Amino acid sequence: MRLDKYLAHAGYGTRTEVKQLIKKGLVSVNGEIILKEDKKIDEALDEILLEGSLTNYRQYVYLMLHKPDGVISSNYDPYHKTTKSLLVGYEAFQTFPVGRLDIDTEGLLIVTNDGLLAHQLLSPRYHVEKTYYVEFEGDYKQIYQSLFETGITLDDGYLCMPSKIEKLEGNKAYLTIKEGKFHQVKRMFQSLDMKVTYLKRVTFGPIKLDETLKKGSFRELTLEEVNLLRASCNKPI
Ligand code: URA
Repeated sequence: MRLDKYLAHAGYGTRTEVKQLIKKGLVSVNGEIILKEDKKIDEALDEILLEGSLTNYRQYVYLMLHKPDGVISSNYDPYHKTTKSLLVGYEAFQTFPVGRLDIDTEGLLIVTNDGLLAHQLLSPRYHVEKTYYVEFEGDYKQIYQSLFETGITLDDGYLCMPSKIEKLEGNKAYLTIKEGKFHQVKRMFQSLDMKVTYLKRVTFGPIKLDETLKKGSFRELTLEEVNLLRASCNKPI
């Protein structure tokens, strides 16, 4: 791998930034200062130091973002703030959100550059459960419980997979679904003449939103959390 690519992937800056570090003579490979950004290195064997400190290469990063209202689940948008822009310090990694939350939906968004895991987590074959906290307007009838459990038909005729609803006091509930159709939760409530007024994702598979994370902030998933995520999608249904 090229030295500049290695340093960028390891999180030491963008390609342009790490090239500057190399040009300034701050990077050594096996004890020798290297000024050529395209120097080929072996990330498993070579000792690469930046300003005298050992660098730590990681191919993949796994982040948990507490997405706030008003932010688009995307890497680029000409009009709105993006989730990518919140991930300060991780610009060098080519991350993307695992699925999308609507601009006005808050809560747990997993962000990674591990394409295979993301693909599996989103694949309908693995039925990864997501739980949403929902506030709504309208009349919640007792019979809706069994409708959510058997499967709600959306406005376009799509029959949703069975879901679980836990009705709370007032016009509030937790809804757990196994798929991720466009505006799915809002449309499920709409099909029963109710309107979602606030939506927050609180779990994604085995991962719970860390409530100590303020809206707009993020942290890396722990190794245990990453392993739980992997395990949640290694058995297709
Ligand atoms: N369902 C919705 O309606 N919106 C979201 O953002 C997520 C699930």
